[in-house]
Amino acid sequence: MSPPVSPAVPETFRWGVATSSFQIEGSPTADGRGPSIWDDFCRVPDAVDGGDTGEVACDSYRRWDDDLALLRRLGVNSYRFSTAWPRIQPDGSGPVNAAGLDHYDRIVDDLLAAGIEPFPTLYHWDLPSALQHRGGWVARDTAERFAEYAGLVAGRLGDRVRRWTTLNEPLCTAWIGHLEGRMAPGVRDLRSAVHASYHQVLAHALGSRAIRAAAPGETAVGIVLNLSPIEPAGDTDADRLAAVRADGHVNRWWLDPVHGRGFPQDMVDLYGIDLPELPGDTALLAEPLDFLGVNYYFRQLVVADPTVATLGFRQVPVPGAPTTALDWEVHPQGLADVLLRVAKEYDTPALLVTENGSAWADEPGADGYVVDPERTEFLVDHIAAVQSAMAQGAPVQGYYAWSLIDNFEWAYGYAPRFGLARVDYATQQRTLKLSGQTYARLIAEHTGGA
Ligand code: FCB
Repeated sequence: MSPPVSPAVPETFRWGVATSSFQIEGSPTADGRGPSIWDDFCRVPDAVDGGDTGEVACDSYRRWDDDLALLRRLGVNSYRFSTAWPRIQPDGSGPVNAAGLDHYDRIVDDLLAAGIEPFPTLYHWDLPSALQHRGGWVARDTAERFAEYAGLVAGRLGDRVRRWTTLNEPLCTAWIGHLEGRMAPGVRDLRSAVHASYHQVLAHALGSRAIRAAAPGETAVGIVLNLSPIEPAGDTDADRLAAVRADGHVNRWWLDPVHGRGFPQDMVDLYGIDLPELPGDTALLAEPLDFLGVNYYFRQLVVADPTVATLGFRQVPVPGAPTTALDWEVHPQGLADVLLRVAKEYDTPALLVTENGSAWADEPGADGYVVDPERTEFLVDHIAAVQSAMAQGAPVQGYYAWSLIDNFEWAYGYAPRFGLARVDYATQQRTLKLSGQTYARLIAEHTGGA
């Protein structure tokens, strides 16, 4: 399969891969790291498939050199990783744990020496447990603590890091972590979920300010949202209303406030929960975005369902559609659709596809090599969709494949594999898959590399 080379892609385009701290690092107590809500959640019986935990993961805290070697082989020019708050502030507040921050300092230096842009995310779900004991995202104080942490990290790395993202996918923390209870902290309560939404958006705004203050000059700050195009399953008014609500719940609830428009009133009314606003917040939340990170995995088809409390809708499978090992629909056009929609309706200055990828039942040969035509096709087709959105005017500046390596897929444990490189968890050996080799070739063709 020959990847397309499009004239729409400028030389400055970021070709990257993404990971996150909890999913790859392991070493939960090394160098003074404190516990996080995901360490705690993994100990809850039946919370994570197979009883899997992040204790070892891909051992990346100790095997950073192996990961760097893979990044070089892929030829990426940018790496999206996350800094673990509990390594940097083990209790979520107070002075920096120097050894923890040193780890990311070294990652930044090594990346720059390899000609790869470091692109850190400050929060990818591993909240220090101490903050959860004080209310977690349901408490306003967590947003303030996040800003303090963001300022500390930016103060140390901001002389070399030019682009930052604050939070990853607040939707998952709010709706899956606080309403459905399927992710840490495992709460099931609408009021908590609405308050966790508000405080994450506030944390993003306060954190952006703190980064800009600590790392002045050429600093770009954004947030990462996971977006899905939503379609009604049936040609009925009830399903069309369900789709408007689902779009509000999944997309507008996040897009509106991070673009300074406030939380959508139709959704505040639907939830029937007062936002935990304080006087002066409107001005704080108007903090501008330099770019939006878009994570895209699937489209959502919805039906009206009056038995679903408050929301009144539910997602249904797309009849006859191809799906991945996690039953997520494969629909590359949806990526172009969300990028064009955001560009048109929100006029965001810049967009980055901060995650996109797929899990498949990989079968390695005796040498560990995985021939993964489905993941390869998924990658090529989604990159083509990005290029088509760019050709139609979407200001996309980069694409990050999820993920560099197979890793801990949250409540699904280690069974779903998303990596462009296979991890043999018995030996921790990494082997690029066919998809990884294809990505390397595609990047080289676009950047004029070897
Ligand atoms: C996203 C998460 C990421 C990874 C992918 C598959 O929702 O941001 O950590 O788990 O899904």
